[in-house]
Amino acid sequence: MRLSYLYGKLMKKIQGTCVINSRIDKTSVIGTSCNVLWTQMGKYSYCGHECQIVYAEIGAFCSISDHVFVGGAEHPMNRVSMSPVFQNTRHSGPSKRFATFESPKTKRTIIGNDVWIGHGVTIKQGVVIGDGAVIGSNALVTKDVPPFAVVGGVPAREIKHRFSQEVIDRLEEIQWWNLPDKKITEVVDLFNIENPTLEDLNRFFPK
Ligand SMILES: CC(C)(COP(=O)(O)OP(=O)(O)OC[C@H]1O[C@@H](n2cnc3c(N)ncnc32)[C@H](O)[C@@H]1OP(=O)(O)O)[C@@H](O)C(=O)NCCC(=O)NCCS
Repeated sequence: MRLSYLYGKLMKKIQGTCVINSRIDKTSVIGTSCNVLWTQMGKYSYCGHECQIVYAEIGAFCSISDHVFVGGAEHPMNRVSMSPVFQNTRHSGPSKRFATFESPKTKRTIIGNDVWIGHGVTIKQGVVIGDGAVIGSNALVTKDVPPFAVVGGVPAREIKHRFSQEVIDRLEEIQWWNLPDKKITEVVDLFNIENPTLEDLNRFFPK
């Protein structure tokens, strides 16, 4: 039993991850069996297993679960065929026999800082996700998500906000995620407070 468990773990570990033309901060982690292409990822972020992230800008301190798809390619729907063999791409076939038009430009997907993306989420290319937002598991995000909103469902809709508007505004002002590690260490007790108030924030970050 234990051997088969370890074997399963090992097999998961050795599945390759592919990171191409991307800049991943050295403090960030990409899980196994991920494809990460043309993407930037800030400090202390991670993504789990079997994620596909294409042409995205991801901030710092983001928590991205397994099976998350960001910025998947879209096939043009307004021509006779949507097949890539009619596009001038590497899928056009060996002789590019049918290639008649250039592929549409991929839109950059922006994911803010300290965003939590649940298991199995798909984020449409070009969407902007605000700082501190939460994307519930299995959501399909087709529209921009405001900072500190919690969204879920297919298509994703707002469920609630994490904090009051005054706290959200102050957090956006402070932008603690951009501070050097040394400064974060100095104010680390703030991160231990549940449901922080404006007064809490101002105590640690006097105006
Ligand atoms: C989105 C989420 C964070 C909300 O958690 P919560 O604040 O405890 O929310 P609640 O369970 O109180 O639900 C609030 C409402 O949102 C709905 N909801 C919760 N999660 C949802 C989801 N993923 N998709 C759609 N609706 C969801 C609930 O049904 C409820 O609706 P109601 O008010 O109409 O009854 C959580 O449900 C979730 O999806 N977490 C991700 C877990 C995950 O993927 N972990 C992987 C490891 S990182």
